[in-house]
Amino acid sequence: MGLKRFDNKVVLITGAATGIGRAIALRLAAEGATLVLADRNLEGAHQVCTRAAEEFGVRAAAIAYDAADAASGRRMVDDALALHGRLDSLINNAGIYRRDHFSKQTGDEWSLVFGINLESVFHIVHQALPALIASRGNVVSTASTAGLDGIAYAAAYAASKAGVIAMTKSLATEYAPKGVRFNAVCPGRVRTEIGTGLSPIEDQDPAISVRPSKLLGKIETGEPEDVAGAFAYLASDDAAYVSGAILVVDGAQTVG
Ligand SMILES: NC(=O)c1ccc[n+]([C@@H]2O[C@H](COP(=O)([O-])OP(=O)(O)OC[C@H]3O[C@@H](n4cnc5c(N)ncnc54)[C@H](O)[C@@H]3O)[C@@H](O)[C@H]2O)c1
Repeated sequence: MGLKRFDNKVVLITGAATGIGRAIALRLAAEGATLVLADRNLEGAHQVCTRAAEEFGVRAAAIAYDAADAASGRRMVDDALALHGRLDSLINNAGIYRRDHFSKQTGDEWSLVFGINLESVFHIVHQALPALIASRGNVVSTASTAGLDGIAYAAAYAASKAGVIAMTKSLATEYAPKGVRFNAVCPGRVRTEIGTGLSPIEDQDPAISVRPSKLLGKIETGEPEDVAGAFAYLASDDAAYVSGAILVVDGAQTVG
């Protein structure tokens, strides 16, 4: 029998309709979690809920959520709390990626990327904090290796993820006395819409290439399931003494 670290735990995951968020949801369902999945793709989130319930017998509910809208974020957290009356883990995973030459990026795009990838985290953490303090729960946010190392043609994305990392460390310190843990995972390139679904930009400098994974068998890129376990670890009691950690999960893409 596999690990069951999330029996009787309620976990709220944003951006769980596809990609990394879906893989995290199914991984946690396999470990017994009660799931609340929030996404602007409500149909996709419903499908993940159905799969989690059928394959793993857990309770799972989908909630419509637009990370670009602060009021939607606050409402979504209230709706999630109304379902089960408690929250043990919040996984901030919803995100977007915008690529172009820096000179062609607009202020509106910069604001959109920051709004969805960073400000949304402020709004929902703010709203969820009383419940997380009550449960001595935890927050795991999806940052990116781009937030540590930068990434060509996506300065806004990289800066938004650097913001998530700084926020994670700041809140880990501030809320340690209340027993709430804050950690972040920095995936490298993963096969999802964001990671591999976008076509190359025009006039991309051929000298600037994607760094492949160095792990045998994962030469090109990781799969969402390759990173889901790191989220499960950080959200579980196995990580009870881990807070403020920024865990790189990239198959050795960014080292060496
Ligand atoms: N794939 C990669 O290579 C990679 C690497 C590092 C970090 N990440 C991060 O992982 C997270 C998940 O991305 P993914 O790679 O699985 O891509 P994805 O596009 O498959 O998943 C993104 C999810 O977020 C949801 N979403 C997007 N905008 C939203 C909004 N405004 N409101 C609510 N939900 C919204 C989408 O519907 C989708 O379910 C993102 O935060 C991304 O930045 C991805």
